[in-house]
Amino acid sequence: MKPAACHTLVTGASMGIGKAIAADFAASGENLVLVARSRTLLEELAASLVSEYGIDVRVCSEDLGEPGGPGRVFEYCSKQGLVIDRLVNCAGFSVVGSFVRIPRAELHQMAMVNMVALAEMTRLFLPAMIDRRKGTVVNIASLAAFQGVPGMGLYSATKSFVVTLTEALDAEIRGSGVRVFAVCPGFIDNDQFYNRAGHDRKRILVPISEPRVVIKAMRRGLISGSVVVMPTLFDRLMVFTQRVLPRRLVVMLAGYFAGAGEKLSS
Ligand SMILES: NC(=O)c1ccc[n+]([C@@H]2O[C@H](COP(=O)([O-])OP(=O)(O)OC[C@H]3O[C@@H](n4cnc5c(N)ncnc54)[C@H](OP(=O)(O)O)[C@@H]3O)[C@@H](O)[C@H]2O)c1
Repeated sequence: MKPAACHTLVTGASMGIGKAIAADFAASGENLVLVARSRTLLEELAASLVSEYGIDVRVCSEDLGEPGGPGRVFEYCSKQGLVIDRLVNCAGFSVVGSFVRIPRAELHQMAMVNMVALAEMTRLFLPAMIDRRKGTVVNIASLAAFQGVPGMGLYSATKSFVVTLTEALDAEIRGSGVRVFAVCPGFIDNDQFYNRAGHDRKRILVPISEPRVVIKAMRRGLISGSVVVMPTLFDRLMVFTQRVLPRRLVVMLAGYFAGAGEKLSS
C-alpha cells in the first residue's frame, strides 16, 4: 500500500503567529492540518494555501480549552488516515492584570489552552512519531517563561510549564529520531494578541518584533539541535542578564519592561 502523505499540524493557525507558521510550511510544500476555533478563518486560509501551493490542507475546528478537544483532533486525524510528522503547538493567549482579579473561567481556560492542550496534543501525537523514528514537535513558548512577570503571572507560569516540559521531553526521547524544541519569542507585533490580553502595547518598553522572527527561529530550531530557541539577539541578552542580577530584580524588571505592572493597581 502506498504510504499516506505526511501532514504538519499547526494549532492556533487561524491568525497571528500560527497562521504565519502554517503559511511558511505551505510555501515549502508541506501538507497541513489547521486547528483553532474559528472555522471560517481556517477555511479561508486553507483555500488560499491550496490554490497558491497545491498542497493538501485539512481544517479541524476545535476548542482546545475544552476537555476532550485534543482527543477530538487526534480522532479526526486518525479517521482521515493522516500521518502527522510535525506538530506545532502554537495556540495560546495571555491576560494582563492582577492575578487576584483574574476570573476563574479565564484562569481555567488559559491553563487548558496554554498547558493542558499542549501536553495532551504532544502525548497523543508523539508515540506514532517515535514508532516511525521521524517527527518534530515545536512548542511556542515565550520569553515570559524565564521568570515570573508581574501583571502576567499566570501567563508567564504557563509558558514556564511549556519550556520545562519541552526540556524534559527532549531528554526522554533523545536518540528516537524525533525532535522536540521550544521557541521563546519576546513581544511580537500582533494587536489581536494584545487586545485579547487587555495589554496596552504603548506601555511595552522593549522592542516589538515582526512575526517573521518567530518563523526564522523555528527554521533555525528545525536544523539545529537546540531545545530552546530565542528569536532575537535582544531576547538572548534579556535571558543572559538574569545570570548576573538578583532574582527579585529580574522579576520586577520583567513586569516593568512588559508594561504590565501598572495594571495591578487599576
Ligand atoms: N504575540 C506575542 O507577543 C507573543 C509573544 C510570545 C509568545 N507568543 C505565543 O505565540 C502563540 C500565538 O500567539 P499570537 O500572537 O499568534 O496570538 P493570536 O493572534 O491571538 O493567536 C492565538 C491563536 O490561538 C488560537 N486559540 C486561542 N484559544 C484557543 C482555543 N480555546 N482553542 C483553539 N485555539 C485557540 C486562536 O484561534 P481561535 O481564536 O480561532 O480559536 C489563534 O489562532 C501563543 O502561544 C502566544 O502565547 C505570542
